[in-house]
Amino acid sequence: MGEFFTMHSSEIRSQFFKFFENKGHKIVPTAPLVIKNDPTLMFTNAGMNQFKDIFLGNNKPENTRVADTQKCLRVSGKHNDLEEVGFDTYHHTFFEMLGNWSFGDYFKKEAIEYSWELLTQYYHLPAERLYATVFRGDKTQGLQFDDESFQYWKNFLPVNQIIEGSLKDNFWEMGETGPCGPCSEIHIDLRSESERKKIPGEKLVNTGNPLVVELWNLVFIEYNRQVNGTLLKLPEKHVDTGMGFERLAMAIQSKNSNYETDIFQTLIAEIVKLCGTNYGVDEKKDVAYRVIADHIRAVAFAIADGQIPSNIKAGYVIRRILRRAVRFGYTFLNFKEPFLYKLLPVLAEQFNLVFPEVSNQLSFIEKVIREEEKTFLNTLESGLKKLDELLLSSSWKKIIEGEPAFELYDTYGFPLDLTQLIARENGYSVDEKGFNSEMEKQKERSKQKGKINAGDWFSVNKMDTFSFTGYDQIENTAHILQYRKVNIKGKDFYQFVLDKTPFFAESGGQVGDTGEFIFENQTVKVVDTKKENNLWVHYSEELPVDPSTEFIARVNKNKRRDTENNHSATHVLHAVLRNVLGNHVVQRGSLVCADYLRFDFSHFSKIEQSELEVIEKLINEKIRENILLTEDRNVPIKDAVARGAMALFGEKYGEMVRVITFDSKFSVELCGGTHVKQLGNIGLLKIISESSISAGVRRIEAVTADGAENYILQRMHLLQKVNDLMKHPNDTVSVLEHILNDYQSLKNAFARQKEKELSELAKRIYVQKKIKGGVSFITEIISEVNDFSVKDLVFKIMELQKEEIFIAIGSCENQKANLFISVSDDLIKEKGIDASKLIMEFAKDIEGGGGGKPHFASAGGKNPEGLKVVMGKVERLVGGINS
Ligand code: SER
Repeated sequence: MGEFFTMHSSEIRSQFFKFFENKGHKIVPTAPLVIKNDPTLMFTNAGMNQFKDIFLGNNKPENTRVADTQKCLRVSGKHNDLEEVGFDTYHHTFFEMLGNWSFGDYFKKEAIEYSWELLTQYYHLPAERLYATVFRGDKTQGLQFDDESFQYWKNFLPVNQIIEGSLKDNFWEMGETGPCGPCSEIHIDLRSESERKKIPGEKLVNTGNPLVVELWNLVFIEYNRQVNGTLLKLPEKHVDTGMGFERLAMAIQSKNSNYETDIFQTLIAEIVKLCGTNYGVDEKKDVAYRVIADHIRAVAFAIADGQIPSNIKAGYVIRRILRRAVRFGYTFLNFKEPFLYKLLPVLAEQFNLVFPEVSNQLSFIEKVIREEEKTFLNTLESGLKKLDELLLSSSWKKIIEGEPAFELYDTYGFPLDLTQLIARENGYSVDEKGFNSEMEKQKERSKQKGKINAGDWFSVNKMDTFSFTGYDQIENTAHILQYRKVNIKGKDFYQFVLDKTPFFAESGGQVGDTGEFIFENQTVKVVDTKKENNLWVHYSEELPVDPSTEFIARVNKNKRRDTENNHSATHVLHAVLRNVLGNHVVQRGSLVCADYLRFDFSHFSKIEQSELEVIEKLINEKIRENILLTEDRNVPIKDAVARGAMALFGEKYGEMVRVITFDSKFSVELCGGTHVKQLGNIGLLKIISESSISAGVRRIEAVTADGAENYILQRMHLLQKVNDLMKHPNDTVSVLEHILNDYQSLKNAFARQKEKELSELAKRIYVQKKIKGGVSFITEIISEVNDFSVKDLVFKIMELQKEEIFIAIGSCENQKANLFISVSDDLIKEKGIDASKLIMEFAKDIEGGGGGKPHFASAGGKNPEGLKVVMGKVERLVGGINS
């Protein structure tokens, strides 16, 4: 198959667009990979995510037929498991999903016909190798066999190539609730003719065979899965299809693995160049190549869409993917220095036409990845040290327990197989069961942490329209359309959707409004407002007695005013930063709340205090100029960009946008937030911190208006207190400098004195040494350990005699015993004495544990009496050295 026909991946993609354009579809851009404002999803994991609210009926589509290629990331849950990617040839973290949609337009017939036409007549895939699955029905759900799809498929395929599938395989659900419906999948058999003769393809569909794979999923959305598990018919029927681009390329290019297509080969060739060994020679190395080629795409696109690696949530997922790639490179391809970032130019070039976001931010992404790699390589080194210690301390049982193995995984990024590999090399095993149980515990913990339990919506009033009035007013009369009860992290809330609201819903960094619903005899507090699938959701801890009556929805005025001050101030800050630092400054994140503002932006070095002062001064000048707000609500995005407004990477914009301008030559931004009518309202801005949040990203925090005033007052009070304490000198700074100088000299003198005392004590102990068989030894138990460290004392004694000496010093403090032993190098080398081994034995006598190196080791325990036993043992041991 495919011997006479092949296509480059970019042609495959453009052919898909052309085909669906000819069928009346509008080709739309991919949604960003990183999802904001959706509590149920961190990353786009299917093409249909961006259309979820259309399926649910919360939003009307601009076009009823659309098609696109969507950047997707699947790293956990039922769809994919990160730890498995790389070991097979067709699963990925990041992939492209080609899709076509009908929103209440065509249904099964056209969806099936289109897919068949494209695959067989444009991509020339052989009909005899294609299989279609159809939903067999499910009695428990009251669902019938999908005979309609079956009949359409019969027009193209013999019945043996049409396979019935179960609820699990042929009923697609977005999640536990939401739009869903039966689906029909197209699979392809890519095995050789002789293999096909042995076992027919239909027997291998959906069995995990790497060469009999699903290509395209046609979902016929007609239900909404309710929280109580029942299926509600949606008012309209929709089509949602998704085709894995990389697998399609594998089929069209007649390859046995996605990684052999040009999509991955360009990257693999670059990795080969960097490490100098070839792909396809050694399976272990090949896994590493695949892991790296897969993961660099995920990491680069996530960063391009605004998700910087970090320690929490989505950022942590990206960090884990990056670290997995580094670790495979380190272990199997001998990359001991950062290398992943070197693949970026090739990746950027490869996607330049379809997803230009990587090439547009190339140097920024390179910098972020390189720094992450550096830090992780250091962590890997410390992990290896930790593992060494573990091997040492478990030497008597030769097993690494589950808990420390899991700590190595979780804290140092060591997956189980690496720990096992090193353990095996040292003749140890790893408690795999214990490790898995720790892993389960952690998964459960994180599941519980983010858990949201939502009930079904209750409809209260029926109205078709919704309006947000909050740009113009802060209160209006309203009705509740629907409400439900939710439990978020163990706390109950009610959520309300209104017909009309002045409440701003959290978005674009600005927090949601709080306020009140004022009913005739009751006031219900609103604690937050958020958007969910384009619904404006108001949160409260109370339920009105009669939710169906009219009420006044009133926003907390002061909080809104403070938030607006901070939001407009953020725009001013952004503009001034670009003026002062340069146009490379791009917003990377922002939080605008009533108390302060936080602004993250790309910039490569620390901003000096003097620069910050200039920035702050310019901002306050603009505030005093009292520039008036110009707000345009419905500007075509092209016009807005022409006016100088910047579209942010990773943000999703419609065709029409809102533009916020404070002087068209100074600050023009695409923004949905609420703002002051004139900059003078902000009063004053004070920068309170400047810091780095990751490589290439700086953070400025600032306060405005009352907040700035309070901040200055606090600082003045502090200064006042210092002055009071110092009895109001004329020149506070020089007096303070004197005090600090005196303090430092006293500290130094004190340290010298202590050092002297320690040397004297060391000498006193040393002269009492005993000698057996030519070896000196000290067995001292001291009870006064105030003011010095016994470890330093041991080192001091060691300085007095470098050869043929064994020191054991015990100390007791608060009923606890400490033991320190030290051995001269010659005894280690010539007599095989090893302090780190001996300490294990001695630790038992004092009922504790210990560890160390051959020349010095220490232990702690709860039995001071045992120290005498130890000293006896030391004496006998020394006696035996030369006998
Ligand atoms: N939603 C379906 C899937 O993800 C088809 O696009 O497979």
